[in-house]
This record gives sequence, C-alpha cells and structure tokens, in this order.
Amino acid sequence: MSAYHESVMKNEMLHHLNVQNIHTEGVIVDGTLGDGGHTEFILKNTSPEIRVFAIDRDRAAIERARERLSPFRDRVTLAHGNLGDLKNLAAQNGIIRIAGLLMDLGVSSPQLDTPARGFSIQHDGPLDMRMDSSQKTSAADLLKKLSDAELTTVIKNFGEERYAKRIVRAIRKEQAQRPITTTSQLAMIVAKATAAASSSSPRRARIHPATRTFQALRIAVNDELEQLKLALRDAIGLLNSAARLVVISFHSLEDRIVKTFFRDEQKGCACPPTMPTCICGRTPTLKILTRKPIVPSDEEAQRNPRSASAKLRVAERIYA
Ligand SMILES: C[S@@+](CC[C@H](N)C(=O)[O-])C[C@H]1O[C@@H](n2cnc3c(N)ncnc32)[C@H](O)[C@@H]1O
Repeated sequence: MSAYHESVMKNEMLHHLNVQNIHTEGVIVDGTLGDGGHTEFILKNTSPEIRVFAIDRDRAAIERARERLSPFRDRVTLAHGNLGDLKNLAAQNGIIRIAGLLMDLGVSSPQLDTPARGFSIQHDGPLDMRMDSSQKTSAADLLKKLSDAELTTVIKNFGEERYAKRIVRAIRKEQAQRPITTTSQLAMIVAKATAAASSSSPRRARIHPATRTFQALRIAVNDELEQLKLALRDAIGLLNSAARLVVISFHSLEDRIVKTFFRDEQKGCACPPTMPTCICGRTPTLKILTRKPIVPSDEEAQRNPRSASAKLRVAERIYA
C-alpha cells in the first residue's frame, strides 16, 4: 500500500478538468491539497505553462505534499488556509482568474490513520478531529461546550443520526462521571446507547454504530459545510470562461450542497415561480456537465474501499 493518501478518480478528475490541451499560462487551484496526489497528476499531465495553486488547512499535509511535489516546485504554490477563504488566498498570491478548480472534500488517509489526530473510530486517540491543529476547538471541547439541544442538532443534522437524543443522553451520563476525552471512549458510549437499534437493523449493523456521530462531530469541528458553500461562491468569481469546477464529495450532505449550487447557478434567475418576469437580474453562471454524479469504477472501489462513497460533479463557468 502506498504511504500516501490514495487519490480518488484521478483519471476522471483530469479528464473533466479539461486542462490537458491548454498551452498558454494558466493557474489551476487544488482547494484540498491533502497528500498532493491530484496536484501531482495534474502537473504530470499538463503543459509546463500550467501552474497549480494548492490549499490545505492541515500544515502536516502541506509539508508531506511539498516533498512529494518537489520535482514540480517551479510550477506549484502551496498555501495554508481554509477553502472558505479561497478568494482572499488567491488574491494574496496574485491570482485573479483561474483555469480550473478541484475540491476533493473530506479527510485524507494520513488524517484518518494517525491516532493522535482523533478522527477514527478504529484507533484510540484524543478526541480531536481538527484538520487545522492550530484551531482552538476540538471535538472533545465541542462535547463540553454545546448545550443538549445544540449537540442533538449537530448529531441529527450532520450525522443524519436518528438516535441523536439517545446518544446525547448517554454522553451526558458519562460526562457526569468523567470527561470524554478519547475516540474509543466516545465510540463505546455511542455503541452502547444504540446497541438495541443496531441489532434490529441489518443496515445499521453494517457500519460501526458511532460512524454517524463521528461524521457529525468532524463536520461541526471543521465547519465543513459552511466552508464548502463559501468556496463554491468564490469559485464563480475566479473561474475563467469555460473553466471547469470539479468537486468530489464523500457523503450526501456535501453532495446535496454541490448539486443544489450547480442547479441554482445554471438557472440564474432566483425569482419565485409566481413572478411573471425576472426582477432579480441574475443570469446563469454555470453549465452542469454531469447530470448524474460520476462514481468510482468497481475496480477502484474494491482496490480502495475509501473511494466507494465518492461522487464527482462537474460544471463549466459560463459568462452570459
Ligand atoms: C480527501 S483529502 C485530499 C486528497 C488529495 N486530493 C490527494 O490526492 O492527495 C482532503 C484534504 O482537504 C483538506 N480540507 C478539507 N476541508 C478543507 C477546507 N475547508 N479548507 C482547506 N482544506 C480542507 C483536508 O485537510 C485534507 O487534507
């Protein structure tokens, strides 16, 4: 197995970015650098005039990618920052317009597989889950800080977990005895709280009972959905005419945001259907190129089970 994160749908990503035949200067943004696998593939398969500007909020990822991408150091700029700050990060690096944008959302394998990062149910570690370790609030802090109602909403909405109330009750019971500080402690509490439900539902029994709770806390800790919405908005201002926006998402909440954004931007006008003529003045900014999302081949899903839930959507910037 490669020591790096295994990049998902590399060929499909490159094909849909549609940058292989550009022979003039241009910048492609990789908004989620990770281990730099996608960036490396783009650099290997595009002309030397093409540069990549890549962002990650995880400094450890940037350092790993910097080493991997050293053969391309003249063509790549790496920045530490948040996707939601895309426009500012680009401007700080002198980038006004871009030839393509890739976002490969979620967490990387090194983040998941390093117990000290606290993302994984499989490894015991501190209950952390911060992609950016300099950020203040960890998952353990959130469990302390949020009210019962807030925590229930997080677990219900970001985890799509129907037993959120039951889980919060179990969390509070434990916290009355001792603080919850580790991944295995939380995994155990959730497993116990939902044991009856898991044993009666074959669908629930297929995944670890705490999977949804872990996903919810990770999304909340890293403000993932808001950051995605902000980045999509910034993309519209940055993409050149006919430049492509390629987004790979890993769960339905992310995919829904991308799908809805693409649809709204393709439609343009946001007036209510009852309005006889358009008064909002909004024109279409995107053309959707994937009516249905592209998913990994069976071979890829088998070889790399972490790719199995990936969905790739593509839209092209149009100027009316
Ligand atoms: C799935 S990995 C990317 C893997 C990469 N495409 C590759 O081929 O190696 C996702 C990366 O995006 C970063 N990330 C996720 N959300 C982010 C955000 N809002 N801002 C900046 N980086 C983010 C994570 O830290 C992680 O390193």
